[in-house]
Amino acid sequence: MKKSLPLSQVYKFLEPGPVVLVTTSIKGHHNIMAMSWHAMIDFNPPLIGCVISNRNDSFAILKKTNECVINIPTVTLIKKVVGCGNTKGSKVDKFNKFHFTPKHAQTVKAPLIDECYVNLECKVIDKKMVNKYNFFILQVTKAWINSKQKNPKTMHHLGNGLFMISGKTIKLPSKMK
Ligand SMILES: Cc1cc2nc3c(=O)[nH]c(=O)nc-3n(C[C@H](O)[C@H](O)[C@H](O)COP(=O)(O)O)c2cc1C
Repeated sequence: MKKSLPLSQVYKFLEPGPVVLVTTSIKGHHNIMAMSWHAMIDFNPPLIGCVISNRNDSFAILKKTNECVINIPTVTLIKKVVGCGNTKGSKVDKFNKFHFTPKHAQTVKAPLIDECYVNLECKVIDKKMVNKYNFFILQVTKAWINSKQKNPKTMHHLGNGLFMISGKTIKLPSKMK
């Protein structure tokens, strides 16, 4: 039996995850926010679409600098990730508060978070939908991975403080590359 699903709850079922940490930087001040509303748009060069609310401090920095890093954490960092999602960069130095280590990126001024096993340096290439939807199109300009990280467990947001942790991997004859 099915019952009506409130439209406000739809997002919980399509959240692709993983939850990522977006770093931005302006005038030497680094910021971090948690983000789960993102989607791949193209393979190569990799293009990513993401929604960053204009209520977030990261929004103004990204709109101005056109640069960020998408850092992918494993579940061991989950409390810090949620902490970055519950605090404002204008009030808190999140690198300091959550003991994250900033590392220089190669193609952008925003820092990599060393503790994250993947870091994607990104430049904003299209802001046409920013005013209406807070939707940025990013191009990944440099990507890093910690090759020692085996079987990373990522976290996927289900809404209201619930997370699903990535699990079993299976292989099937799929034509999708
Ligand atoms: C799990 C999680 C996922 C989030 N996903 C998004 C998102 O996709 N887009 C967004 O604008 N805010 C998202 N947020 C909220 C921001 O991370 C939050 O507003 C943060 O405080 C912004 O920081 P800032 O003001 O320093 O930029 C998420 C928060 C959490 C905890």
